[in-house]
Amino acid sequence: MDMQEQLRKIQEDAKQQIEKITDKAGLDALRLKMLGKKGDLTLLLRSMGQVPAEERPKVGQMINVVREHLTAQMDELDAKIKKMEQEKKLARESIDVTEPREHTAIGCVHPVSLVQDQLCKVFTGMGFDVVEGPEVELDLFNFELLNLPKNHPARDAQDTFYIEDNIVLRTHTSPVQARTMLSRKPPIRIVCPGRVYRADEVDATHSPVFHQMEGLVIDEDVTMADLKGTLDAFAKNLYGDDVTTRFRPSFFPFTEPSAEVDLTCVNCHGKGCRVCKGTGWIEVLGAGMVNPKVLDMCGIDSKKYSGFAFGVGLERIAMLRYGITDLRLFYEGDVRFLSQFRDD
Ligand code: DAH
Repeated sequence: MDMQEQLRKIQEDAKQQIEKITDKAGLDALRLKMLGKKGDLTLLLRSMGQVPAEERPKVGQMINVVREHLTAQMDELDAKIKKMEQEKKLARESIDVTEPREHTAIGCVHPVSLVQDQLCKVFTGMGFDVVEGPEVELDLFNFELLNLPKNHPARDAQDTFYIEDNIVLRTHTSPVQARTMLSRKPPIRIVCPGRVYRADEVDATHSPVFHQMEGLVIDEDVTMADLKGTLDAFAKNLYGDDVTTRFRPSFFPFTEPSAEVDLTCVNCHGKGCRVCKGTGWIEVLGAGMVNPKVLDMCGIDSKKYSGFAFGVGLERIAMLRYGITDLRLFYEGDVRFLSQFRDD
């Protein structure tokens, strides 16, 4: 066989094989067989010695042409294989977005947290900061600086868990007031949500742990009218424009004067019903003007500044809002109850 014929055979051979190859491994094998160190074309090139000298340039050129041609064909096939493999991969990995998904149970926000978040939003909208304080609290902040000295009879109203003589589980969120007055300068506008503790037996309306939110505003010339306006805005924001507040005289050692604050009954809108026991009003807050004695004890000049404070039970707000009649439901963790507060 002369060189030309051998070349044609190699070319023919390659063409047939290329048609059959469908993957990278096959192509690599062919490349090796043709162009590798011991490949057909390489061997042919090595045997150039046998070709008469005058024909060598011509034959050499022919071999090169064939080599280039083969290389081009194989490169083309390589690209084709890569594309095919990519398409196969995409087909394998494609996601059927219409396929029904497995149901995954996701939690939902606890109703007390929902109320807390909403109150924080309402008050931050009015320029208040949200401040937190410790649940394990010094007697000093929980009582003393709030004008509840040792042996004060009003201490009995709050069945306190004592940790040590001077350390308690806070019975209300009011100690955060005292802490804030000592650490910030007026003007002060804060709300303080959090857990509080009292040694109460569990029943439909009592729990040893519950939640409150305290509010405090201190500035020059703050009056009871500011308190009333703020609480009215809060009531309307929470329950609607027809809800308003009513103040009744009361007593708290840390405020003077003090008031119990009622809201228009959210159930009957003031007409009188079972929820409000026919009065049209529901008691929800304690409030008042910060006692000047408290201001002075907490390092704020009561001649220059005045302020108001209020405290609200979050469970109570949630009960009214969602028509819940038993406090225990909040703490039992029954998903049948909790999952009703999903907002999706
Ligand atoms: N700390 C009171 C309580 O737990 C609630 C309260 C009443 C807070 C009047 C206040 C206030 O700031 O002015 O019963």
